[in-house]
Amino acid sequence: MIKIAPSILSADFAKLGQEIKDAEAGGADWIHVDVMDGHFVPNITLGPPIVQAIRPHTSLTLDVHLMIEQPELYIADFVKAGADLITVHAETCPHLHRVIHLIKEHGVKAGVAINPATPAHVLQEVLPDLDLVLVMTVNPGFGGQAFIERTVNKISQLREWISSSDYPNIHIEVDGGITAETAPLVVEAGADVLVAGSAVFGKPDRAAAIANIRNSVTS
Ligand code: DX5
Ligand code: ZN
Repeated sequence: MIKIAPSILSADFAKLGQEIKDAEAGGADWIHVDVMDGHFVPNITLGPPIVQAIRPHTSLTLDVHLMIEQPELYIADFVKAGADLITVHAETCPHLHRVIHLIKEHGVKAGVAINPATPAHVLQEVLPDLDLVLVMTVNPGFGGQAFIERTVNKISQLREWISSSDYPNIHIEVDGGITAETAPLVVEAGADVLVAGSAVFGKPDRAAAIANIRNSVTS
């Protein structure tokens, strides 16, 4: 089953509660929350208070994507605010194994993201500890960027490793430039969670936008 995780980065921040309710009613599986610090990526978005504010508006998994330096300093705050799954970037964690276990000790699911320029093998040693790997299909920082096609090879590589391992249920999430045109490419390669920002919240009818992506990969 393919999951669709609309990214609130492209939503109207002045009415986030309603935007999330619309996405949930429209068939979203998870809600993707993009946290940016202006250091690791050249943009600043939101922090734990916003996660706490949106938490009562949905029962869906809050999938929190931390594009921040020293993410270990903020794990407790995001969990307290209501995150269900926390993904950190491999590029920001010299002690990646320690950070993954810190996330799990807080009782939530753990993911690791890799940028387009980061090879899949940086995940090899920690794969058994993960609930999710996130393959960035754009350079993180902004919504609405063009899908980088070369990243598809990494998805296939990770799918091969995960399927032939003792931990075949790890999710492979993709993030950036996902539309009804690019979704079939990543699903074919083995992705099972599709983040979509502008392709959902950039459209007037969120239910139709989600259905459009889902139909592109299930027909
Ligand atoms: C990119 C973010 C994405 C972003 C995707 O830095 O991590 O989650 O919202 O936006 P689209 O789907 O518009 O590329
Ligand atoms: Zn994201």
